[in-house]
Amino acid sequence: MSIDTVRVDLGARSYDVRIGRGLLARAGAEIAPLVPKGRGVAVLTDETVAGLHLDSLRDGLGGIGMVAHAMAPGEATKGWAGLAEAVDWLLAEKVERRDIVVALGGGVIGDLGGFAAAILRRGVRFVQVPTTLLAQVDSSVGGKTGINSVHGKNLVGAFHQPSLVLADIDLLASLPERDFLAGYGEVVKYGLLGDAAFFDWLEANGPALAAGDAALRQYAVRRSVEMKAEIVARDETEQGDRALLNLGHTFCHALETATGYSGRLLHGEGVAIGCALAFELSQRLGLCPQEAPGRVRAHLRAMGMKTDLADIPGDLPGVDALIGLMLQDKKVVDGRLRFILARDIGAAFVAADVAMEPVRAVLAEALSGR
Ligand code: GLY
Repeated sequence: MSIDTVRVDLGARSYDVRIGRGLLARAGAEIAPLVPKGRGVAVLTDETVAGLHLDSLRDGLGGIGMVAHAMAPGEATKGWAGLAEAVDWLLAEKVERRDIVVALGGGVIGDLGGFAAAILRRGVRFVQVPTTLLAQVDSSVGGKTGINSVHGKNLVGAFHQPSLVLADIDLLASLPERDFLAGYGEVVKYGLLGDAAFFDWLEANGPALAAGDAALRQYAVRRSVEMKAEIVARDETEQGDRALLNLGHTFCHALETATGYSGRLLHGEGVAIGCALAFELSQRLGLCPQEAPGRVRAHLRAMGMKTDLADIPGDLPGVDALIGLMLQDKKVVDGRLRFILARDIGAAFVAADVAMEPVRAVLAEALSGR
């Protein structure tokens, strides 16, 4: 099976996303053009990923030397203390301005490692090696890097594009099923937001893809990355169209906050439920066909994914509290909710000023099903 290349076209900051099997094993050949002669690379990872993949990366790098630092796994690492730990380690390893940092891991390590690279010596280059489906199709591409603050998630950060992304499809085989399906929530999002034919393809191929078919997985990652690359090239810093990538996220962030960013709801699970709710809202506003929300939910159900609020274990706050959490979202401008709505499957758009009443009605109905 061959390796696909998707170019993220950003002028002098353009880079390739390489997608395929066996990329870790050929990491040396892939990364070598970026590494100054006689220098090695500094790898940031977490303890779980290190146990699974660090030796393979070391072998794959061949003649390129490697030092590595494994951080505690989990979202708590993505804060000020974790950032200081990463940056101080890179400085202790004498990483210089022209060197390459490699972020080997999921979204936490990619975001944190990317931000450490952005601020180290006022910016060094970095390579993303995403190890989760969510990181391969979303967080490793597009240059959003950062950490969480006590005031909220991802509130401190920088746009810093990687120099290369290596998405090795074989690494997805080591993911627990729940994590894989959560990442699949972001894959479905791409079909829903901009490519109805891709959503058709996912309906037909999703179950085999989830069961482990590597060729189908590679196509799904490639198509997702192509869509993200095209949107990021149009709007790198989210002044407009990049917000389309937030389909489902306003509902998702409220639900994540309500569940305390705990194991009760993974981010990709919240995105899937949020997409279903965004289609319910679009239909209630008379924007999309009657049958579209049912079709979205039927696919999520067929994949064994969380689809409704009833699928979230434990208590949820009421409508008013959920609306209150939505109003705290980064996407609120002057107290008005900015939603990504849809005219149909594959036809999302940014709606800047959504009335509260239909949002309340959708949430009330969704909560009554619990
Ligand atoms: N994850 C959304 C974005 O990269 O813009």
